[in-house]
Amino acid sequence: MDEKYEKVKKILKKYNQEQLLIWYDKLIEQKKEELLDQILKIDFEQMEELYNQTKGKKDFKDCKVEPLSYIDKQKLSKEEREKYEKEGIQVIKEGKYAVVTMAGGQGTRLGHNGPKGTFELEVGEEKKPLFTLLAKTVKEATKKYDAVIPWYIMTSKENNYKTIEFFKRHNYFEMGEENVKFFIQNELPMIDTKGKILVDEKGMVKEAADGHGGIFEAMRKEGIIEEMKQRGIEWVFIAGVDNVLAKMVDPLLTGIAIDKNYLAAGKSVVKNNPKERVGVFCKKNNKPSVIEYTEITDEMAEKVDEDGELLYGESHILCNLFNIKAIEEIGKNKLPYHSAFKKAKYIDKNGVIVVPTEPNAYKFEAFIFDAFEKLNDMAILRVKREEEFAPVKNAEGVDSPETASKLYKDYIKNKNK
Ligand code: UD1
Repeated sequence: MDEKYEKVKKILKKYNQEQLLIWYDKLIEQKKEELLDQILKIDFEQMEELYNQTKGKKDFKDCKVEPLSYIDKQKLSKEEREKYEKEGIQVIKEGKYAVVTMAGGQGTRLGHNGPKGTFELEVGEEKKPLFTLLAKTVKEATKKYDAVIPWYIMTSKENNYKTIEFFKRHNYFEMGEENVKFFIQNELPMIDTKGKILVDEKGMVKEAADGHGGIFEAMRKEGIIEEMKQRGIEWVFIAGVDNVLAKMVDPLLTGIAIDKNYLAAGKSVVKNNPKERVGVFCKKNNKPSVIEYTEITDEMAEKVDEDGELLYGESHILCNLFNIKAIEEIGKNKLPYHSAFKKAKYIDKNGVIVVPTEPNAYKFEAFIFDAFEKLNDMAILRVKREEEFAPVKNAEGVDSPETASKLYKDYIKNKNK
């Protein structure tokens, strides 16, 4: 232990991060060991790079940005639709299709204490957890196509235990324990405006989930890609946990990707207005991409084409399909990190717990859609918002339980008509 401690001290001195041991003496033996291990896992060079990155503002000046063409589901002929669906159904029936739900988040914005997937939404007589609604979608498809469709759930260090407990309590929604798998996403330290890594209120390194773009690396590290390959999985649909209308098993999207020989496909809905908080599909330097709502300029967001439609109006709804070969390739390298300036509780250098009222620290997140740039092209399928996009994000107002609940109930009513 002494040896490890000395080693850690040396590293911290080299990188000027000695504050990380400020609470060390007050920790119990087991926590001391944990803290040293946590520090040894930090890539300090990477943290320095990330800190330098926070100083420059991202813009698209050096980038050629253009709209990305898409296929409108409503405009497909009956023959086209049948042809694509037939190809997709075959893949599903042969057991080559899997779904992944990214559920690393907590329901903080919703005022929910626990994994976001356990948040209960009113969908008629009773309230149902988001996981239950998603499970229903997967199970219905399993029946419809008479196929086994494995479901993988990405959790975070923070919510992994509670998520697994929840699934156990629900008996894995009768899908069989062997068909519901969990894997944990990665975390990265948070730093202050001077580049110092924060100490959390328990005296450990302050870490935060590294964004859903870490999914590919996590799938590789946790053996998920390998497991999928052994099962013969070829196509993987990846979506967030918060869209209760996510059509997770979609033969049409799959058929289009296969027919056009693409390794990925994504769904879009028409952007409601230039200010809607969604990313939009585009082409950056000739590669498919998404510009996030936090990064788009007003000018770009408001630009219209000759028909008066938003030029960048294909909203990314976080419903994307990847070929396993693409996942494997992307998982070999890290995706770029975007920084967000957040409020983060920490212990300062005098050993005082600080609860900031203003943002004070950077959090780093990779975005799944940055993976698109690694592909030459991908298919975008424009679908109807009322059929496939009902996000539950905010406690009230737009994208809230109230709006999602209405969209969900209307969808079920129309489906049963
Ligand atoms: C996201 C998309 C945005 C899209 C919108 C559609 C990002 C960065 N942006 O915005 O382009 O238009 O959804 O609703 O995703 N998650 C993890 N681990 C993480 C971070 C997020 O599993 O580290 C999961 C969350 O549980 C959630 C989903 O990813 O299911 C979306 O994350 P969130 O941060 O809520 O993204 P939005 O800002 O809503």
